[in-house]
Amino acid sequence: MNTLFVKTKQSQSEYPIYIKDDFSELEKAFNKLDTSVKKACIIADSNTKELYLDTIKEIAEKCFAEVSEYAFEAGEKSKNLNEINGFYKFFVEKGLDRKSVIIALGGGVVGDMAGFAASTYMRGIKFIQIPTTLLSQVDSSVGGKVGVDFLGNKNMIGSFYQPEFVYINVKTLNTLPYNQVAAGMAEAIKYGYIADKDFLDYFKNNMCKIKELSSNEIKHVIYTSCKAKAYVVSKDEKETGLREILNFGHTFGHSIESLSDFELLHGECVAIGMISALKLSSDRGYINQSDLEFAEKLFKFFELPVKVQNFEKDKIFRQMFFDKKTKNNKLNIILLKELGSAYTEKNVSDSEILEAIEYIVKS
Ligand SMILES: NC(=O)c1ccc[n+]([C@@H]2O[C@H](COP(=O)([O-])OP(=O)(O)OC[C@H]3O[C@@H](n4cnc5c(N)ncnc54)[C@H](O)[C@@H]3O)[C@@H](O)[C@H]2O)c1
Ligand SMILES: [Zn+2]
Repeated sequence: MNTLFVKTKQSQSEYPIYIKDDFSELEKAFNKLDTSVKKACIIADSNTKELYLDTIKEIAEKCFAEVSEYAFEAGEKSKNLNEINGFYKFFVEKGLDRKSVIIALGGGVVGDMAGFAASTYMRGIKFIQIPTTLLSQVDSSVGGKVGVDFLGNKNMIGSFYQPEFVYINVKTLNTLPYNQVAAGMAEAIKYGYIADKDFLDYFKNNMCKIKELSSNEIKHVIYTSCKAKAYVVSKDEKETGLREILNFGHTFGHSIESLSDFELLHGECVAIGMISALKLSSDRGYINQSDLEFAEKLFKFFELPVKVQNFEKDKIFRQMFFDKKTKNNKLNIILLKELGSAYTEKNVSDSEILEAIEYIVKS
């Protein structure tokens, strides 16, 4: 249960995701790399630098001849090409070559940026992910998307690039602020709704232990999430069809996220968005009213929002058309056929959508 292998079409290979309680097996993982790898560069943000850099550096120094480190200011606002420019300059200064390896130590921002830099420096050098937020552990560890924001557009510049391996130490979650844990939990619960009904039952039966980040339970959540995402992605690596279901709750969620001026976390908006999508699925009779009620109970238990306050219904609706995934000015909504099975619905009336929004708007 502690290692998941993710197949990638792109490179016709697979890479492991190690899910552990500490960093004690990281050295072994590093040593599995090609022996020609002599130089490693750890990329962290200002928070993960303080918390984990020394530990990782010490381990890396046992495995590589030269280990350098680069940290940037934490937060989405650093996720741009200027920062990447700084990475490249540092790589040149340290003499990193095609045989070197980049180690991403942090959440999704570090992973996306370090992965992007690794994918482009000298046409691509090796990279390793050590994700330290729940969101990055359950979401960005799988799928190979790397990149940066550009001119205010999220993830506009990027590529698909797979890591050599992903090493998750679940104990890193103990230092993560709880609202960030909850935001990651929303994405994990999403996999239950779209792909795995048993996983929803697992949440139902182990809520307390999961919330406490009890080792076996949180490892199960991460393993099952990565497995579900890997399954969906392996069926559709370039996002042409099935992969759309990963956007369950996101069309509503992105709209709320931008209207809130990014004050709410992405995962929190996705939780509210999932409630809308579940309401619509329930209005259509695909799931029961009690399923919707359970979702609200589950999200509240994890201290996730299920409604928005002081938002105009029409504004949320209009903003949904600005989502980059909206095609031909037509809203495609991911709905559930039943619990554990999602699909893209191309025929949804405005009034159905407005009713689903009405449900999440608190006056
Ligand atoms: N590549 C993908 O498939 C994919 C998927 C989902 C999200 N993303 C991207 O991920 C980003 C969001 O990721 P995120 O939520 O991890 O954000 P993040 O990387 O900004 O991390 C959130 C905050 O937690 C801090 N932090 C990280 N680990 C910590 C720890 N263990 N203890 C204490 N603090 C810690 C960070 O410094 C930061 O302040 C977005 O840019 C999004 O586009 C990418
Ligand atoms: Zn998301």
